[in-house]
Amino acid sequence: MLDEIKRIGHDFESTLKSAGTSAALEELRVHYFGRKGGVIPTLFSRLKEVAKEQKKDVGDALNKLRDRLESELKEKHERIATEESARKQSRDIIDVTLPARTPHLGHLHPVTIVRREMETIFSEMGYSLDPGPEIETDWYNFEALNFTPDHPARDTQDTFFVDVESPARDGGMKDLPYLLRTHTSNVQIRSMENHRPPVKVLSCGRVYRRDEITMRRSPMFHQAEGFLVDKGIHIGHLRATLEHFIKRLFGEDSKMRMRPSFFPFTEPSAEVDMSCVFCKGAGCGTCSQTGWMEILGCGMIHPQVLRNVGIDPEEWSGFAFGLGLDRCAMIKFDIPNIRTLFENDLRVLEQF
Ligand code: DAH
Repeated sequence: MLDEIKRIGHDFESTLKSAGTSAALEELRVHYFGRKGGVIPTLFSRLKEVAKEQKKDVGDALNKLRDRLESELKEKHERIATEESARKQSRDIIDVTLPARTPHLGHLHPVTIVRREMETIFSEMGYSLDPGPEIETDWYNFEALNFTPDHPARDTQDTFFVDVESPARDGGMKDLPYLLRTHTSNVQIRSMENHRPPVKVLSCGRVYRRDEITMRRSPMFHQAEGFLVDKGIHIGHLRATLEHFIKRLFGEDSKMRMRPSFFPFTEPSAEVDMSCVFCKGAGCGTCSQTGWMEILGCGMIHPQVLRNVGIDPEEWSGFAFGLGLDRCAMIKFDIPNIRTLFENDLRVLEQF
């Protein structure tokens, strides 16, 4: 048995050397000291078979072996644990010199930027904001705005009709379908029906026309409509309001001019040009060498429109104006093609 103890001690040396992880070491510990069938407990249990005169020597050798194995296992266990925790620490270490991951921030769409700026400018002047409905009846989109059923001005607003009859004004059904509004001017009628003057409203939203898609046209686009009704309002108020707005949106050095025009719902009517934002009026390719860019339509609200909503034109007067928000965004951010605004290409949108 003394030989056996010697051999076991010897074998232990090499098995200990090859155990490189705490898991392997644990396996080794169980092999030698496991309560069930562990090498050392088995040897102790065999002590009673040893002849009396050898018992003391074998017992001593066995005790020594157990103590040596225990202390060597313990020592190696401590070494491996330290190494493993050092390795783990170096893995977990935070390298503060690494560039940070930038969070993905959203961007405002150019049309949203222009709309919000416009809403701020007019809110500051006391206008309330009302987007109005996109699905509209013929009355609000056309007739109350003085487009009679066969008025040629309807041809300029080629309309999408919705295949559903709309209610007549007397509450019955009229043989006229709903339509997608062709302009935001419908809000003039809806607002004036709901609020007695004085009223000041700005309405921004989507409008629809059966247009070909070109560089400047799209079947859906965005408009802003503003109007004001009060006592003693004249065209000077309109001009001052628009001049203030254009300078705020496009810069203090912007100039504007009014040209006579025609809209069924305003009299007199005008189109407004502003000095070209690119050449400041000198003449360039964008403004076809004229120095001016057409920006909006406007006029004094037609007396018939006021009568249509029960407002006495002898007592009240007002002005209205309408413009394309997409066009404003294209001018402000120098975007040549309207489709760029609706393609949702992130490489474009991330620039705003
Ligand atoms: N509704 C017109 C259009 O879509 C734009 C417009 C012109 C609005 C003159 C107005 C205005 O309020 O006075 O073409």
